Amino acid sequence: MNKVFLNLGRQPLANSFLKDIKEKTLRNEFFYNLKICFNTKNYLVSIKRPVNPKKQYTDKYAHRASESKTMRLAFKDVAKKLFKRFRPKRIMEIGSNDGVFLKNFNKKSVIAVEPCKNLARITKKLFKTYDEFWNLRLSNKLLKEKKSEIDLIFSANTISHIPNLEETFKGISKILSKNGVLVIEDPSLLKVLKNNSYDQFYDEHVYVFSSLSMKNIVKKFGLRLFDIEHLSTHGGSNRYYVCKEDGKYKSSSRLKKALKDEISHKLHKIESYFKFSKRVNLSRKKLFNLMKRLKKKKKKIISYGATYKSTTVFNYCKINSKIIDYVTDTTFNKQGKFTPGSHIKIISPKIGINKTVDFAFLGAWNFKKEIFIKEKNFLKKGGRFITHVPKVTILSK
Ligand code: TYD
Repeated sequence: MNKVFLNLGRQPLANSFLKDIKEKTLRNEFFYNLKICFNTKNYLVSIKRPVNPKKQYTDKYAHRASESKTMRLAFKDVAKKLFKRFRPKRIMEIGSNDGVFLKNFNKKSVIAVEPCKNLARITKKLFKTYDEFWNLRLSNKLLKEKKSEIDLIFSANTISHIPNLEETFKGISKILSKNGVLVIEDPSLLKVLKNNSYDQFYDEHVYVFSSLSMKNIVKKFGLRLFDIEHLSTHGGSNRYYVCKEDGKYKSSSRLKKALKDEISHKLHKIESYFKFSKRVNLSRKKLFNLMKRLKKKKKKIISYGATYKSTTVFNYCKINSKIIDYVTDTTFNKQGKFTPGSHIKIISPKIGINKTVDFAFLGAWNFKKEIFIKEKNFLKKGGRFITHVPKVTILSK
């Protein structure tokens, strides 16, 4: 029942920043074909052939959730809110990264699951951490070891990364207490379609969920979606609240509204995805042509934020170091490296944002507000941003 509607071409792993661009390094660079499909039965949007997670979530995983102040505050807020609403005794996070969410709770009541060993090493010092992939086997192991179920399972930007949904939800269903709650945060499909933000598709985002698909998926595993919140993180995300089928929570009016909204935007129809695909194709042509035109006029173009999202954009639109002089990024770990597939040098914004720059492509468009405040001098001196979200445009304010 899976129908391919979008082909984003040959892509590298979104976070596989290269140490150098010597011939040998480039020869070993891993690529795969990024095709996106729609399931006409449960309305799930996914990558047709996901990459093996063992290639992605290694002991060199670069993303540290605590590095962004916005994310630190957001996780602190949600931790407080969830504790107040559900009063959980035992809490588990799937994909705990560097502990940015869990450290807001009593350390004795939490369990962290994080397969990237470099990250798990950080939280092992703070609380019980399992440096393993989440699956049914681990769920059984935890039940055996701890002899008690979990009242709150939290997972932000992780469930969408796990190819095997069957294992994921079977494991969750097994360990969740009678009135326990599963809270999932992931990018919103409706927002992707509205923003034309096709760059939400990269190897790690195996799925982009909607409330329609989430409702159908969890149902298969004896679970029930009962509430939803819309968030601004990652350019528009949803926070899904799930309980056991016979859990005490009533379906919220927010959820009914969200489901209705998605139906009115025809998220359950394949035609909407074919239309989206056409818009994406047009966006590619427009972005490439705009940059070519500016280059012909001898303008200097850079990119702002070495995001995973921009890996998709650069490789799909065939944008490389002939067009973009360099990418700036505040993350030390990325500075001095090269972007995956497009091989553009990444440098610090302290050096890279200066008066020689005419245009900066907004790789981190989800932080546009923050960036425009930070870079008001760049704008004042005539610098311009280029974005592709929701349309290819030059921005001066
Ligand atoms: P993120 O939002 O996590 O996007 P993705 O999931 O697509 O990688 O990454 C934002 C990146 O942008 C991160 O590497 C930090 C960088 N950044 C800057 O360089 N300057 C800024 O002002 C902001 C807000 C982000």
